[in-house]
Amino acid sequence: MAVITQEIGSEYAIYNGDCMEVMQAMPSDCMHLSVYSPPFGGLYHYSSSDRDLSNCSSYEGFFEHYTFVVRELARITMPGRISCVHCMDVPLSNSGTDALRDFPGDIIRLYEREGFAFTGRRAIWKEPLAVRLRTMQKNLAHQSLVEDSADCGVASADYLLTFRKRGANPVPVRHPVGLLEYCGEKLMPSDILSMRGHAGKQTENRFSHWIWRQYASSVWGDIRMNRVLPYKDSREADDEKHVHPLQLDVIDRCVVLFSNAGEKVFTPFMGVGSEVYSPVLLGRKGIGVELKPSYYRQAALNVRAAAEGKRADQQNLDLFPTEQQGAM
Ligand SMILES: C[S@@+](CC[C@H](N)C(=O)[O-])C[C@H]1O[C@@H](n2cnc3c(N)ncnc32)[C@H](O)[C@@H]1O
Repeated sequence: MAVITQEIGSEYAIYNGDCMEVMQAMPSDCMHLSVYSPPFGGLYHYSSSDRDLSNCSSYEGFFEHYTFVVRELARITMPGRISCVHCMDVPLSNSGTDALRDFPGDIIRLYEREGFAFTGRRAIWKEPLAVRLRTMQKNLAHQSLVEDSADCGVASADYLLTFRKRGANPVPVRHPVGLLEYCGEKLMPSDILSMRGHAGKQTENRFSHWIWRQYASSVWGDIRMNRVLPYKDSREADDEKHVHPLQLDVIDRCVVLFSNAGEKVFTPFMGVGSEVYSPVLLGRKGIGVELKPSYYRQAALNVRAAAEGKRADQQNLDLFPTEQQGAM
C-alpha cells in the first residue's frame, strides 16, 4: 500500500497511509521525540482496514504487529531521546464482573526488548462518574456497590509512559530560563508570576519550579479534559466508535519537556492530528501518519490551522481570565 496522500509544509509533514511503510522510508536517528496513543489492542476498532492495528484478531496478534512499530521507532529516534506512549489498562469485557489486562506493563516490556529504558509512568486522573457516563462501564454503576461490592470497578487512569533510547543524547534539551508556560487547570500562585523568564540563578526561579513540580508529579490531576481537537466531523456512517483525541495539555507537556524548538516530533498514529498540532504551535516540526482517510482529512484541517497560528482546540476559554489564571 503506497501513501494515499500527503501534505508537506515547512512546519509539518502528514501522511495518509500505513505508519510502518512511512517509517521504513525514514533515515535512522532522525526523530527528536515521539508522542502517541497506540490503537488500544481490541478496545476500539477505527476502520475495517487489515493494516489497522486495532483490527488484529487477538491481543497477541496486536503485539506481534506493534513490535514492528516499536522496532522502527527505536531505529528512527535519536540516541538518548524520548518516546512517550499514552495508554490505559484494558478491560477484558463489560460484563459487570470484569478483569483488566496490564496493557501498560506489556508496552514497557516490549520497549525494553527493543532498546529503550523505561523512565517514568504518570497517571492521568479520571473523574469516576464522568467515566461511567462516557463508557457505560457496568461495574462503575453505584448499583454494583449496592448489590455486591466485590464486583465494584475502578475508573482507570490513563498512563503516560516515557522511554529513553539507548545511547548518549548529542543535543541536550535545555531550558536556560526555566519553563515559561503552564498547561493545566490549576491557578498559579500570583506571587510567582513576576519570576517568569528569570535570567538569574535558576534556584530562585519559583515560577519555573512551580510548573516543574506539576510536571514531575506521578499523578497529573490537572489536565483539562476538554482541551482537545475537533473530531466529530471525521466520523463515518459505519463507524462503531469514533476516535478520542488525546488532551492537548498532555502533549504540550511532553513536547516542552523533551524537545527543543525547531526539532522533529513524530506520531505513527495521528488520528485527528493532536500530536502534530501541538508541536507546530510550540515551534517544532510535527510529523504524523494516519491510516483512516476521514481522520487524516480532519488532521489536515487542524494542522493547517496550527501552521497559520490559529487555535483549533475547543478549550472553554474564560472570557475574563484573572491575572492568576494558568497560561495556554
Ligand atoms: C488512539 S487513536 C490516536 C488518536 C490521536 N492521539 C488523536 O489525538 O487524534 C489511534 C489511531 O491509529 C490509527 N491507525 C491504526 N493502525 C494504523 C496504521 N497501521 N498506520 C497508521 N495509523 C493507524 C487509527 O486509525 C487511529 O486513528
